[in-house]
Amino acid sequence: MNRRSLMQASGLGLAGAFLMGKANAGSNPKFAGSVYYTSENPGRWAKKVSGHAPVVQAETKSGKKVVTVTTPHEMVNEHFIVKHTLFDEQMNLLGERVFDPAKDKAAISSYSLEGVSGKVYAVSVCNKHDTWLTEAVV
Ligand SMILES: [Fe+2]
Repeated sequence: MNRRSLMQASGLGLAGAFLMGKANAGSNPKFAGSVYYTSENPGRWAKKVSGHAPVVQAETKSGKKVVTVTTPHEMVNEHFIVKHTLFDEQMNLLGERVFDPAKDKAAISSYSLEGVSGKVYAVSVCNKHDTWLTEAVV
């Protein structure tokens, strides 16, 4: 396993372990700032918030709710966003997108949601700066 594969596996595994547990990830301060990071709890990555905390925007297009997740981060082979995932309040997976820095020049993903309203959790995984979570209401 090369370094890139190892980083991807560890980051994705970490996110999955905490978010698939059907717990309310956003309200568990024990893990925020240590296992995963948020704007409010950036832990050891306090200087990295602006480029790592995912930004969530919701809009209605043709009668359907579209949620767009953006991580304003560089996308180069050595340093990039590996993946976005989006969960509802019960930690049901709403969507995911894996990025390839050779093809994706920005870490942006969109999800067309029907019948979803309330809290959502967007997760962004950096290959160097771990897993970040943003809670939003859509
Ligand atoms: Fe990073």
